[in-house]
Amino acid sequence: MGTATILITGAAGEIGHSLMDLLQRMGERVIAIDLMQPSHLPSGVEFRKLDITDNTAVQHLFRSTDVDRVFHLAGLLSTGGEKNPILAHSVNVQGSFHLLTAAHEATQRNGAPVRFIFPSTIAAYGIPSPQIKDAAGSVREDQYLAPITMYGNNKLYVENLGRYFSNYFQLLCAENHPHLDFRCVRLPGVISAETVPTGGTSDYGPEMLHAAAQGAHYDCFVTPDARLPFMVMPDAVRALMDIADAPRESLTQSVYNVRSFSLTAEEIRQRVLKLFPGASIGYALHERRNAIVASWPGDTDDSAARRDWGWAPSYDVERAFGEYLAPAIRARYGRSARKTGPDLGCVAL
Ligand code: SER
Repeated sequence: MGTATILITGAAGEIGHSLMDLLQRMGERVIAIDLMQPSHLPSGVEFRKLDITDNTAVQHLFRSTDVDRVFHLAGLLSTGGEKNPILAHSVNVQGSFHLLTAAHEATQRNGAPVRFIFPSTIAAYGIPSPQIKDAAGSVREDQYLAPITMYGNNKLYVENLGRYFSNYFQLLCAENHPHLDFRCVRLPGVISAETVPTGGTSDYGPEMLHAAAQGAHYDCFVTPDARLPFMVMPDAVRALMDIADAPRESLTQSVYNVRSFSLTAEEIRQRVLKLFPGASIGYALHERRNAIVASWPGDTDDSAARRDWGWAPSYDVERAFGEYLAPAIRARYGRSARKTGPDLGCVAL
């Protein structure tokens, strides 16, 4: 990447946490923004408190810095978005629009496309019934795009908006107008050993694991047979880095599925029990959250990403649990593992 100045939005979130570490190790200049100070800020990363719904602040940031790469991670997730759909729309759509227009303007100023990397999600899908979900198997990027959450609709719209900015924005107004370079990966559920997610609906996977590592009881809010694709955080961060670095001419689409393994809730429970044999994990169904998971695919087809930019996860399910999650989560909680319940309660809808 060399001399790029990289902007990370949503720096206090889970992916921001891991991406900042990686970019700092690579010696990149990083400006990180969020509403709140990240609990973990690698040395050398410049943090600015900034609300992406404030268009003046976003435009000023781009005009006063030389950002040429954006990882736009900020957003309210699916459960959080159902709790507060107006705020979700404002952050997920309006905030994204501010960033896209600012990146577009920077593209004009620089005379070179700003690369705009956007993590989208399996929430962009909406499969109408469990029977269709089972029959669908691994879904392609262009199938079942009728999401049932505010978050899913927001993400799907921003995918389309990014494609529009990348190819058509102001096409009718100017000739030879440079466009920003929008690239998007649709992530599955992501499991990190470092952080616990908040406000998502695939959270039962990581929550089970973190509760078990702390010696706390956990009730899973979806049915045992609820199936989703997942990957571990190092692969999620690598997918974002790899699509960011891919040669433009190799990309044949703006949105790519990436995934590593597909598991039911019960299969995750069994794997967690294997790592932490004394763990206490039950089920307490939350109908609405379960319905959200039921509308997402059991797996996604990532063959376009494999073909176009050489995507392949480093961690299959065995390596994910055995070589990443188990040692890292044991190191994280170590001897200080709490015996009482962690703050992993179900987000009420
Ligand atoms: N992890 C997200 C959520 O559960 C899905 O991408 O909302």
